[in-house]
Order: sequence, then structure tokens, then C-alpha cells
Amino acid sequence: MNPTKSSAISLRVNGETHSLTVDNRTTLLDALREHIDLTGTKKGCDQGQCGACTVLLDGRRANSCLQLAVAAEGRAVTTIEGMADGERLHPVQQAFLDFDGYQCGYCTPGQVCSAVAVIEEHAAGWPSAATADIRPETGPPPLDDNEIRERMSGNLCRCGAYVSIVRAVAEAAAQAAAVRESAGDTTPDGGSGSGTVPAGGSGARVTA
Ligand code: FES
Ligand code: FES
Repeated sequence: MNPTKSSAISLRVNGETHSLTVDNRTTLLDALREHIDLTGTKKGCDQGQCGACTVLLDGRRANSCLQLAVAAEGRAVTTIEGMADGERLHPVQQAFLDFDGYQCGYCTPGQVCSAVAVIEEHAAGWPSAATADIRPETGPPPLDDNEIRERMSGNLCRCGAYVSIVRAVAEAAAQAAAVRESAGDTTPDGGSGSGTVPAGGSGARVTA
């Protein structure tokens, strides 16, 4: 490979470090799928429109088709393969199963990654475009269907499983809130901001 057009990088994905040499134009999505064989992250539009390629970058949602692999060096990448704890599914994965939040399943890895971050974003008090009152003193809005639909709007589902997806996200969010409450943590972001996201952190989608 031409050294002026390629780079030797190491990517930290799901806690493991992978050393690879990539064309500098390689997207994070292609690096994950073609170089590291993590094919759970899906390619839909390959231009930032569908959300199928969503992963977490340092705990924040990102469309991996819009990220260069070389720019992800030094960051914590979490893919759908890194969500479960051994044989135990992440609560969001379990909720998608319990509420039939999918049909063909192609969009599901991206939906799950987004939902994990959405729950964190909401718990941390982040408003969305659907939030009517964003004054800090009013506290975070209820994570109702409108809020979930708005916050998940970057993830398209050609099967139209949206009704079940919203129910799954609502259930997983309620479970996460109950966990925080039983831990005696009543602050919106759970005090640490770590919540249930394996990679930690929260935030809006990174698009470039
Ligand atoms: S593949 Fe559609 S947003 Fe990345
Ligand atoms: S479940 Fe088929 S595209 Fe969403």
C-alpha cells in the first residue's frame, strides 16, 4: 500500500486494541466491517442518512460511515458486539427482543446503539427538539413517545417497526431509571453520568 495514502493505526473497539493499516480514506464503518470483521454494524446509505451504521464514540452516537478510521484512533469505539455482558444482553437489547422492536433486523444494531445513548442523554438532562420547556429549573422532560421519536429520528427502519422500537426504548429507559433510583441516585445523570452505557458518557449524534 502506498505509504503516502495509507496509515498504520490502532483502534480500540469494545475494549480491544486492533492494529491495522488502512487507506487514509477508509471510513470507520469499513474498518470495522472489512478489517476487523465486526459486521454487526450495518451499511445502509453510506452517506449519513439512515443511522444503520451507528456506533458509540467515547459514549456518544456517531454515524461510522461519516467518520474516517484514522480519526477514530485513540477513541473508545463501542459497537453492537460490545453491548452484551457475556451471555447477558444489554437491557436495551433485551427490551428490543421483549417488545419485538425489529422485523428484518438490519437497522437494529444502529437502533440499539442509538437507544443506549438516548437514554444516557435524557438522564443527563439534555433537551431535544421536541422538548417544549428547556428552562433548567423545570428539569428533564418525561421521556414520552414524542421525545423518543425525536431523539431516535436519525435511525430509519424500512420495516416500519417504529411503534415497537419506541416501546422498547421506553421500557429500557424505565429500567435504567429504576436502577439509578435503587442505587439512591436521584440526580438526572445518575451522578456519574455513566448510567448503563458500557462506553460511558452521553451526547448528541456526531455526524462528521
Ligand atoms: S450507513 Fe446510513 S448513516 Fe451511515
Ligand atoms: S427492522 Fe428491518 S429495517 Fe428496521
